[in-house]
Formats: sequence, C-alpha cells, structure tokens
Amino acid sequence: MKYPMARITGTGSCLPERRLGNAELARVVETTEDWILSRTGIVERRIAAAGELTSDLATRAARQALEAAGVGAEEMDLILVATTTADHIFPATATVVQHKLGVSERHAPAFDVQAVCAGFMYGLSVAEKYIVSGSCRRVLLIGAEVFSRLIDWTDRSTCILFGDGAGAVVLEAVDSGERGLLSTHIHADGSYLDMLKGPDGVGYLPVPLTGDTPAAAMRRDLGYVEMRGNDVFKHAVKTMGQVAESALAAHGLTAKDLAWLVPHQANIRIIQSIAKRVGIDPERVVVTVDRHGNTSAASIPLALDDAVRGGRIQPGDLVLLDGFGGGFTWGAALLRW
Ligand code: ACO
Repeated sequence: MKYPMARITGTGSCLPERRLGNAELARVVETTEDWILSRTGIVERRIAAAGELTSDLATRAARQALEAAGVGAEEMDLILVATTTADHIFPATATVVQHKLGVSERHAPAFDVQAVCAGFMYGLSVAEKYIVSGSCRRVLLIGAEVFSRLIDWTDRSTCILFGDGAGAVVLEAVDSGERGLLSTHIHADGSYLDMLKGPDGVGYLPVPLTGDTPAAAMRRDLGYVEMRGNDVFKHAVKTMGQVAESALAAHGLTAKDLAWLVPHQANIRIIQSIAKRVGIDPERVVVTVDRHGNTSAASIPLALDDAVRGGRIQPGDLVLLDGFGGGFTWGAALLRW
C-alpha cells in the first residue's frame, strides 16, 4: 500500500540589499580582511535595512518558493517559520507571514520552530511528520533571520560571522517510493548553553513591583550573542559528521551515493572538515558562506535554493542537508531530489 512521503517542490530565497564586506568591518573592529577570509571563508554578508523584519524576508522567500512550486499560498495546510530573530516575542512570526501572504482567512495553522542554526532541519522534521501522517498535503517551511540585530558590533570574534536572509521551501505529499524526503534525523544536547548563547529572555528582567525596582530599571539590556568559537567549531564538526553518517547508514547508503551535501554555512573550515569526514568530494558540497556569512536558520534553505536555481541539483540526485546550532541542536535530512 502507498503511504505519503514529502517532496520539496519549490525553493525560494531573499537577501537584503545591503552588502557588508570585510574591508568595511575592518574599519569598525580590530580585524583584517585577510583574517576574516582565511579563518572563515566569508567575503561579505547582507544586513537587513531599518524596519526590514524577519517576516518581510520570510514572505519574499516564500513567494518565490510558491511560484517555483506552481501553487498558491492559500493551498498551504501549514506554515512554519524557523527563526531565532522573531519579529515579536509573540505572536509567532509564522502568523505574521501568513497575514503578509494574504491568506489569514484560510485559518491554516502557523507556528515558529526555534533551534537556532539547526532550525531549518527541525522545521523539515516537523513538516515531514505532518505530511507522512496524512495531516497535511502541503507545507510552507521558511528559515529566516535578521541575526545582525543580535550581535555585539564591537565584538570582533562574533560580528564578522553573521548575516541576514531567508530561504523557503514548499513541501507536498507524494506517494512513497517516489522522489522526496527519505528521512530526517534531529538531536539536541542542552548542556552547552555556556558555549553559545544569545541575549537573555524576558525571565531575566527584574521582577515588577518588588521593593525599590524603579520603572526605568525594568528596561534592562539583555545582552548579545556570546560564543566560545573554537569549542563550538569542534562540536559542530563532530556532531554534523556523526549525524550525516547515521542518515546515510539508515538507508544502507554511503558518501559515494551522494550527489550533493548542503551543510549549514558557518565557516568554510567547518564545511571542509565535514566534507572530509563524510568522504565527499569538495566539488559536491554547496558553499554560500562566502557570500552570505552565517544566516543561522536561513543558511541551509538559502544554499539549497542557490544550488537548485543554479542548476546544480538535478532530479534524481541524492542530497544530504546537515545543520548545527546553539543548544546544541543538530540534524540531517536525506532527499532524493
Ligand atoms: N580578527 C582578528 N583576530 C581575531 C578575530 C578577528 N575578527 N576574532 C578573533 N580573533 C583572535 C582571537 O582574539 C585570538 O587571539 P589570541 O590568540 O591572541 O587570543 C585568535 O584570533 C584566535 O582565535 P580563535 O577563536 O582560536 O580563532 P579560530 O580560528 O577558532 O576562529 C571563529 C574563530 C571564526 C569564530 C571559529 O572558531 C568559528 O567559526 N567557530 C564556529 C562558529 C560556528 O560554527 N557557529 C555555528 C553555530 S552559530 C549558532 O548556532 C548561532
């Protein structure tokens, strides 16, 4: 008997117009163009304009993906946004995107997924479950970030790394055995908060109406992204390598069967180390970190769209997506394109 599987039928992306190159950064913090390029592989990143929100980038990427799939936003049974940089603490950015797409009257569910740079992998896993269970025929999944807003622009060890953008995919139910998503594999280890974390959440704000907390003190600075880059680097290589291997092993496949690896775009040296560990030819690895920097949850769908629109990923290709983020969180997905 046939049961449903999920297939990506359209991809899209959106990058803010403003390019921030290494030379400009070298005028702001104590660094050099050469240091940034040689240690990270990043040449430039994009920065969202004032008032340009995660939901704006997400909506533009979504429109492209819908157009590529040849379906309307009103046909989506579920809208998911993977993001660390939501427009608001509430409501979910996915509900804002639903409204901006003009389909709120359809009442399709919409919610956010938070797994930092692994957010797209987590979102893909959620989308897959809704489709395979038969609950949804079509899911819109977007990874979108304005990560530049979380950064301390005086901290040279983090401000050189990140950028803004959005990537989107439309997933549709197809019969099992056809081309599509073979499996997703997601993990977390919450003991690494101190190695990589963003600003504090609202729970760290002063308790109201206690003692002598003046109203002005309630508006405490919640901080910025903090990272022990070198330790994060080692964990990223280890966990992304492991999950890539287990995704392939789950289907009795090896790196030789892979046409493309689309990894999280954090640092070219991490990407090269993973390619070596997995055993895939570097020519078969999609790299956009040079042009995008680390766009967190947007990085994998942006790279995927780049490779699809560039004609590199072709029908029938075996593609491995591989992500890693704060938490730590990590995950892989294997697809027959
Ligand atoms: N320019 C010049 N020097 C710098 C800069 C800079 N921009 N940044 C750091 N340095 C210095 C450091 O101060 C240090 O100096 P010291 O030796 O005098 O103390 C030296 O360079 C080496 O620093 P390291 O941290 O060891 O440099 P490394 O080669 O590890 O590169 C980097 C740093 C680029 C951050 C790297 O560790 C990295 O990419 N880490 C992983 C980031 C990542 O994968 N993030 C993914 C998850 S992100 C998320 O989930 C939100």
